[in-house]
Amino acid sequence: MRWGNSSSPFPLGRMLRGKVASAVAMVLACAGTMAGLCSAGDPYAFFDWNVAYMKAAPLGEEQQVISINGKFPGPVVNVTTNWNVVVNVLNSLDEPLLITWDGVQQRKNSWQDGVQGTNCPIPPGWNWTYQFQVKDQIGSFFYFPSINLQRAAGGYGGFTINNRDIIPVPFDAPDGDITLFVGDWFTMDHKDLRKELDQGKALGVPNGVLINGKGPYRYNTTLVPAGIDYETINVHPGKTYRIRVHNVGMFTCLNFRIQSHNLLLSETEGSYTVQQNYTNLDIFVGQSYSFLITMDQNASSDYYVVASARFVNGSKWDRVVGVAILHYSNSKGKASGPLPDAPNDVYDKTYSMNQARSIRWNVTASGARPNPQGSFRYGSINVTQVYVLKNKPPLLINGKRRATLNEISYLPPETPLRLADQYEKKGVYKLDFPTKPLSGPSKISTSIINGTYRGFMEIVFQNNDTRVQSYHLDGYAFFVVGMDYGEWNENSRGTYNKWDGVARSTIQVYPGAWTVVLVSLDNVGTWNLRSEDLDSWYLGQETYIRVVNPESTNKTELPVPDNALYCGLLAEMQKQQRPHAEALEASSGIRGRQMVLSMVISLVAWIVIF
Ligand SMILES: *[C@@H]1O[C@H](CO)[C@@H](O)[C@H](O)[C@H]1NC(C)=O
Ligand SMILES: *[C@@H]1O[C@H](CO)[C@@H](O)[C@H](O)[C@H]1NC(C)=O
Ligand SMILES: *[C@@H]1O[C@H](CO)[C@@H](O)[C@H](O)[C@H]1NC(C)=O
Ligand SMILES: *[C@@H]1O[C@H](CO)[C@@H](O)[C@H](O)[C@H]1NC(C)=O
Ligand SMILES: *[C@@H]1O[C@H](CO)[C@@H](O)[C@H](O)[C@H]1NC(C)=O
Ligand SMILES: *[C@@H]1O[C@H](CO)[C@@H](O)[C@H](O)[C@H]1NC(C)=O
Ligand SMILES: *[C@@H]1O[C@H](CO)[C@@H](O)[C@H](O)[C@H]1NC(C)=O
Ligand SMILES: *[C@@H]1O[C@H](CO)[C@@H](O)[C@H](O)[C@H]1NC(C)=O
Ligand SMILES: *[C@@H]1O[C@H](CO)[C@@H](O)[C@H](O)[C@H]1NC(C)=O
Ligand SMILES: *[C@@H]1O[C@H](CO)[C@@H](O)[C@H](O)[C@H]1NC(C)=O
Ligand SMILES: *[C@@H]1O[C@H](CO)[C@@H](O)[C@H](O)[C@H]1NC(C)=O
Repeated sequence: MRWGNSSSPFPLGRMLRGKVASAVAMVLACAGTMAGLCSAGDPYAFFDWNVAYMKAAPLGEEQQVISINGKFPGPVVNVTTNWNVVVNVLNSLDEPLLITWDGVQQRKNSWQDGVQGTNCPIPPGWNWTYQFQVKDQIGSFFYFPSINLQRAAGGYGGFTINNRDIIPVPFDAPDGDITLFVGDWFTMDHKDLRKELDQGKALGVPNGVLINGKGPYRYNTTLVPAGIDYETINVHPGKTYRIRVHNVGMFTCLNFRIQSHNLLLSETEGSYTVQQNYTNLDIFVGQSYSFLITMDQNASSDYYVVASARFVNGSKWDRVVGVAILHYSNSKGKASGPLPDAPNDVYDKTYSMNQARSIRWNVTASGARPNPQGSFRYGSINVTQVYVLKNKPPLLINGKRRATLNEISYLPPETPLRLADQYEKKGVYKLDFPTKPLSGPSKISTSIINGTYRGFMEIVFQNNDTRVQSYHLDGYAFFVVGMDYGEWNENSRGTYNKWDGVARSTIQVYPGAWTVVLVSLDNVGTWNLRSEDLDSWYLGQETYIRVVNPESTNKTELPVPDNALYCGLLAEMQKQQRPHAEALEASSGIRGRQMVLSMVISLVAWIVIF
């Protein structure tokens, strides 16, 4: 960390306070255990995060990014099935913040989901402590700031859940575990990007692709300016690494490949897959994949690691390519020459879809529990609710450019949906989300889906836009059972994969095509169903599924947490928090002696107290 580069001018103070805060968190956690918030006996992992702006120049041009503890991307949360995770988030931004844990299911606990429908945003200068258990889960996920288009500026990081020691993993332990974040990137500030969308503009072509927060290796002197810092992955010959790749970008699908190396696909978003080699794989926005990669080449040079824009057209997209370097310890020189080819399928729209269909669940592998995953036979369960969700290209509603599902553009209410239910505030939302596309005019509404607890829902995504879309459901993994071009109809059910469709939480829908997922509504709570493409999401392409247990019991959902924030109709319940000195400094720009003095005072105070 360098002076002036992060909001903290006093790293030593931070570190000490970090330790103290962990001790505080420990006490909190015990209180939580007594209140039934988390199960006793399972280990705890504590994190103390300062979310702040930082200057960086990943594409050569200085801009403001969002860092966590001075890092961009943020740290990887590395935990094991059933651990309790406690993350104290200090918001040092100048606007509200929420962190969501994409793909981490938050069993019985939508209170910790970190989206606008379940949580009041953390005001600037305040901290808020997330606490949840990663019950019966394994896999590769990521977290990110869920509101205000902040993910366009960073704030993301990995979330890895390892198998417990007694549960076998369906492959030999790899020699290393590497996390890569790939994503399209704009040099424009996230607030300016927001302004563009508010003014009804499309965002256009991104300025590039970042890999782990860094720009491309200079593989082409015309396309890549000199002096850009790129990511290097250091490996040893003959070893096998697990590489977890997350597309954390705005809206661009990326084709991922490593020159001369096979990608052995092994896991996606919490499901072990049938292990198959790919020379390249399309990774859609919000998706996560684990590959096993064996360093079986002769290291005559370094190798390119590429993530390039997919399904795009025109020379403006030539620079939307991320390039990192795979460096063997015995490498004989730098990578040079052209990048490995992307699939040449401009005229073959089935290539990518066939690749997606080839991703299968390994039904004999154990997941989080000792029984094989496939012992849950989703194909023999009767569907109880069907929703056909159609999206269209953005359109004008009341003079504003909006994105829709079934002609409805979602309006987030001031009072989070789940809190409104808890405190019986009526009229915050309507449970009238249409089961089929409507024919009437489009409207803006807080309309959500009435999910039946323990029901089995079929969701058909029909993409009527000309751009590929990604959809994500919080709180659940769904089974991906089918996708094809054209309009879905009842006969399409004959083509479903009823046996080994993979269970995951983010899925692509090709333009002019449909994708169907099945989901067992066994997790009580209010859960966000959204476009994972940031612009479509921001413009209203989302809704929620409300799942309520009609039986009155405290066993199927955890109580509202003691530290819940209140806003909207419940704002008077909120106790004020004195903004943190450091955060105040970050947002008001006070610098120098006054700041150092206050830091020293707070440091001394901490030492005296503890
Ligand atoms: C994550 O944690 C596991 C288990 O504690 C450990 O074996 C592994 O090395 C850690 N991985 C990383 C990348 O730190
Ligand atoms: C903020 O963090 C402090 C410790 O750093 C903790 O005592 C306090 O409970 C936290 N506040 C909230 C609302 O989580
Ligand atoms: C599926 O998992 C089993 C059990 O761990 C393993 O033995 C097998 O190799 C895996 N099969 C494939 C095709 O990956
Ligand atoms: C670099 O990229 C430009 C623009 O795409 C292309 O015309 C040129 O041939 C490339 N140079 C090399 C050495 O590949
Ligand atoms: C994948 O490719 C590697 C070589 O890179 C090979 O050793 C391995 O057998 C292949 N695995 C499968 C399942 O095809
Ligand atoms: C290493 O492999 C490359 C590509 O497979 C090949 O062109 C080259 O001749 C090999 N070099 C040596 C020293 O074996
Ligand atoms: C690429 O764009 C041109 C004109 O902009 C269009 O004619 C062509 O059909 C497009 N190709 C694809 C594959 O979209
Ligand atoms: C599914 O429905 C059919 C009739 O519609 C019924 O015969 C069957 O028992 C049901 N299966 C389950 C698992 O409930
Ligand atoms: C929501 O669904 C439940 C059944 O799961 C039903 O009892 C209830 O009436 C529905 N509510 C509305 C407003 O449709
Ligand atoms: C959108 O829907 C209309 C009407 O059903 C259809 O004619 C058109 O082909 C669809 N376009 C796409 C891209 O799906
Ligand atoms: C659930 O817990 C709350 C407080 O913890 C208690 O007031 C309520 O009676 C409980 N409800 C049931 C059905 O047990």
